[in-house]
Amino acid sequence: MTGEVKREEFFATPIWSRQINDQALNEELERAMYALRDEDPLGVAKSNNMGWQSRDELQNRPEFKPILDVVLESSETIREDMNIPVENRFRIATAWCGINPTGAFNMTHTHPNTTISGVYYVRAPKNGGNIQFVDARSAHLMTKQGFADPDKPLTWEAVTMTPETGKLFMFPAWLPHNVKPNLARQDRLVISFNLIPSNLWSDA
Ligand SMILES: [Fe+2]
Repeated sequence: MTGEVKREEFFATPIWSRQINDQALNEELERAMYALRDEDPLGVAKSNNMGWQSRDELQNRPEFKPILDVVLESSETIREDMNIPVENRFRIATAWCGINPTGAFNMTHTHPNTTISGVYYVRAPKNGGNIQFVDARSAHLMTKQGFADPDKPLTWEAVTMTPETGKLFMFPAWLPHNVKPNLARQDRLVISFNLIPSNLWSDA
């Protein structure tokens, strides 16, 4: 008896997310971020256009510990999904924040030399800029036929997500991503970070 054609899917690309509803935490973080910008108005220039980005050392600042503790607790799910032993649980390698005014966007980029990357939205105004994840397997475009269909994930080249205040996204550091322009009048406030399993970590 001839069977039906079966499709199996392998090598999936995970994007983990979690909604954290803690208004008091976000208000504290807002204050801490604007204070940090006052301290270091130039910041650093990376994938951000127009926005201000802090140095990547928030893991050393007590005012950011509460959110980074939530990140670490959330990363336990990733550790289990990736079959990483408990003694090698993730550490925050680097963490930084961004204040992104109207018009600010981030070009497509990856985060080299780390394992998991993520972003937490301290404030995500309406139309404040979606985050887009781009298929890392550019080879599949070589044989592309037809157009992307919202009902057929195999045709997608990118996935766009609309962040809300309090949303945490975590994803493999090699996954290309970008942020669309902020079309709102309010700043988009984000805290970004890189995670590394502690056995691969060096303080040196
Ligand atoms: Fe990024």
